[in-house]
Amino acid sequence: MKRVITYGTFDLLHQGHINLLRRAKELGDYLIVGVTSDSFDVGRGKMNVRNNVLERIEAVKATGYADEVIIEDYLGQKIDDIQKYDVDIFAIGSDWEGKFDYLKEYCQVVYLPRTEGISSTMLREESQNNYRIGIIGSGRIANRFVPEAKMVNGTQITSVLNPDPLQAESFAKAHDIEYYTDFDDFIKTVDTVYIATPHLTHYDYAKRSLLAGKHVLCEIPFTLKKNEALELYSLAEKQNLVLLEASKTAYCPAFGHIITLVKSGIIGDVVDVKASLSKMVAPPIRELDASQAGGAMTEHAPLTVMAIVKLLGTNWHDMNFHSRMENGVDVYTQGVINYPHATSSFTLGIGVKTEGNLVISGTKGYIYVPAPWWLTDFFEVRYEDQTKNRKYFYSYDGEGLRYEIQEFLSMIVNNRRYCYKLRHHESVAIAEIIEKYRNKENVTVI
Ligand code: CTP
Repeated sequence: MKRVITYGTFDLLHQGHINLLRRAKELGDYLIVGVTSDSFDVGRGKMNVRNNVLERIEAVKATGYADEVIIEDYLGQKIDDIQKYDVDIFAIGSDWEGKFDYLKEYCQVVYLPRTEGISSTMLREESQNNYRIGIIGSGRIANRFVPEAKMVNGTQITSVLNPDPLQAESFAKAHDIEYYTDFDDFIKTVDTVYIATPHLTHYDYAKRSLLAGKHVLCEIPFTLKKNEALELYSLAEKQNLVLLEASKTAYCPAFGHIITLVKSGIIGDVVDVKASLSKMVAPPIRELDASQAGGAMTEHAPLTVMAIVKLLGTNWHDMNFHSRMENGVDVYTQGVINYPHATSSFTLGIGVKTEGNLVISGTKGYIYVPAPWWLTDFFEVRYEDQTKNRKYFYSYDGEGLRYEIQEFLSMIVNNRRYCYKLRHHESVAIAEIIEKYRNKENVTVI
C-alpha cells in the first residue's frame, strides 16, 4: 500500500485545496493530511487564519480525500511523521517547489501543480477589507496600534477621532488616514472602533460606539467600575456586537499556554500567584495626573489582576491594598487578594521600580515567568527535582498588539461574541477590583 502525506493550513477551504488533495490521493492508496495547529500558525507568523483547527480539520475531512488527519504542531514534525507513518510520498503544492527537497532523504517528494487564481489569503482579503477600523484617540498606544494592525491580514485602519484638530490632523498625516473631530461624523465612516483614549473616557466612547452599531476593541483599563463593564457587555450582547478588552497579554501565545498548562495540573493545585509590573514615568504625563485617573493601579492592575483572575478565578475571599501616594496618585501599590484555598499578590509601580516577574506556585511545582512577564515569550516550569524542569519558548512579535487585533477580527468574522482568552466575567472582575481600590476599600497609605 502506497502511503502519501501532505500538509497545509487549509483555511477557508477552497477549490485549490480540493484539487491538491485529490491529486495527492491519486498518487497512492492512503492519504494522510497534516493540518496546522492554531498555535503553530501563530508561532510562524501566520496571524490571519480564520477557521480554528477543528473547523479546518472538519473541512478537510468533508472533501472525502483524507484517510487520516493529523495535526502539525512543531517545526521538524514532517520528518518524524514520514518515519512514524511509514510514508512513501510527501506531496505539496508547486508554490513550495524545492523547499522540501530535504525530505528526499526519507521518502519521495512530489510538487503538485498549484491551482491558479485562488488562495486563502485572497479570500481573507476579499471579505476582511470590508471591516474599517477607526481609532478613537491618537496617543502613544494608538501610534503603536497602526503598524501592528498592518500585520493582521485584511485590516484596514481608515480614520482617527480626536476632538483636538491639531492632534487629529498630525496623527492622520503620520499614518495616511482620515481624521475627524466630531464623534457622529467619525462613527459613520467605520465598522469597528479601537478605543485608545484616556481612562475616564472609555466607558462613554464604548457605549456610544455600541449604540451606533460598531464592534469595539477597548484599551485597558476597560472601565473603572463594575457596573459600567456589566452594562457595556450587556449592551454589546443586545446589539449583537463584539466588545473586547484589549488586554494584550491575555491574547499572546505564551501566556495562553501558561494558563492551559496550569489548568491541566502540571504544577498541581495553584496556591499562590505573585505578579509585578513597574514602568517609571516622569511628569508631565497622564499617568501622574489624578484628574485623569492616573496611578499605578489604574495603569497596571488590568494586566496583573487579569493574570490572577485567569489563574485563580473571581470568587475571592478578601483583598487589601497598600499604596505610596504622590500628588493624589499612587506611584506604588501592593495588593493582596486571598481566595478560600489560595493567595495572590501584586506590586505595581510608576514611581517605584520593582522586578516585573510572575510566579505561580503549586503543590507540585511552580512556573516562573521572568520580567517583563506581560510581554511573555519565555517561561520555565520548575520542580523540587530540577531534572524535571522545563523551559518553554514562544514568539512575541512586535509590540504584541497584533494578537488582540487578530482575536478581535476573528470574533467579528466568525460571528463569535465570546473569547475564552478573556471572558466577560473576568473582565468585569478586573473593573470591580479597580473600583474597590478607587473607593478606598481596605486601602492603607504608606
Ligand atoms: N494549494 C494549491 N492551490 C492553491 C492554494 C493552495 O494547490 N491555489 C495547496 C498548497 O500548495 C498546499 C495546500 O494547498 O499544498 C495547502 O495550502 P495552504 O497554505 O493551506 O493554502 P493557501 O491558499 O496557499 O493559504 P495561504 O494563502 O494562507 O498561504
